[in-house]
Amino acid sequence: MLISEHLKKYRTRVDRVLEQKVDALDEVSEPLKKAMKHGLLLGGKRVRPILVYTVGTMLGVGEDILDAPAAAIECIHAYSLIHDDLPCMDDDDLRRGHPTVHNVYGEAHGMLAGDALQTLAFEILSDDDFPEELRKNQIKMVNLLAKSSGYDGMCGGQSLDILAENRKISLDELKKVHSHKTGALIRCAVLLGALSTPHIVSEYYDILSQYADCIGLAFQVHDDILDIISDTEILGKPQGSDIANNKSTYPSLLGLDEAIAYEKTIIQEAIELLEKLPYDTTILKDFAKYIIDRKS
Ligand code: IPE
Ligand code: IPE
Ligand code: MG
Ligand code: MG
Ligand code: MG
Repeated sequence: MLISEHLKKYRTRVDRVLEQKVDALDEVSEPLKKAMKHGLLLGGKRVRPILVYTVGTMLGVGEDILDAPAAAIECIHAYSLIHDDLPCMDDDDLRRGHPTVHNVYGEAHGMLAGDALQTLAFEILSDDDFPEELRKNQIKMVNLLAKSSGYDGMCGGQSLDILAENRKISLDELKKVHSHKTGALIRCAVLLGALSTPHIVSEYYDILSQYADCIGLAFQVHDDILDIISDTEILGKPQGSDIANNKSTYPSLLGLDEAIAYEKTIIQEAIELLEKLPYDTTILKDFAKYIIDRKS
């Protein structure tokens, strides 16, 4: 299957699952539910859930088992974007081609929509309709998602990102920012796919984890590059936001050409790692290429 068809297939699938999950919530607060839907359902490439499906199906797991981890990680990601755009963070007004959640529903509901999507992720992942043979791994998945989202993952990275504004940091420090704020959730997506089978071999789990680290880093390097070379309409978010906020990024540290060369090197590394796996890794290889070929 072509990578474009693969992306479309699982984007459509996770969109349907996410819509069902939010629609199933009780009517407690209409504006809060609307704000959650705005941040979760309007657009988005769905890179993280697609990774869950890609790794899981490669390992022979049924798609219906992958729906919960795929939906859960997208809820966390959507929450991270809603909060990332808040005035106290990157202060952006456009996301996924629409006004940001706080612009439409106000700052308090932006914050609350993020909070509620975060807990919805854990509600979905801890659901009791997981197959009996996956119970042990389900607890590992919950633990991994919590760790990857919090202090040791995305939140920690967002803190480092803010602290690195208006100053020059070293390449090692920047790698730490990226591996936490973006890498942790991408690694988590790959590993949620791997944990969806009780039969995953630890050696292959480690190789998948290394693959994920490479594509996670490249993903943020490419995001930083697009912030410079793309435009607002294609991105669906404000081009030049990093420069406006004086962020530390790979292009700002290395220059644009070297940043482009760097992302290519890490993606090549990711592809080579896949050679060590005894599975059909064609789609995962194409996915790695997509990470740095994408225009938005
Ligand atoms: C943007 O993530 C934020 C980063 C971690 C770089 P995505 O590029 O995955 O955003 P959507 O989900 O497609 O909107
Ligand atoms: C955000 O990085 C990473 C997150 C944890 C949300 P950016 O601030 O570069 O993401 P964009 O460019 O606003 O999507
Ligand atoms: Mg940010
Ligand atoms: Mg931002
Ligand atoms: Mg960015």
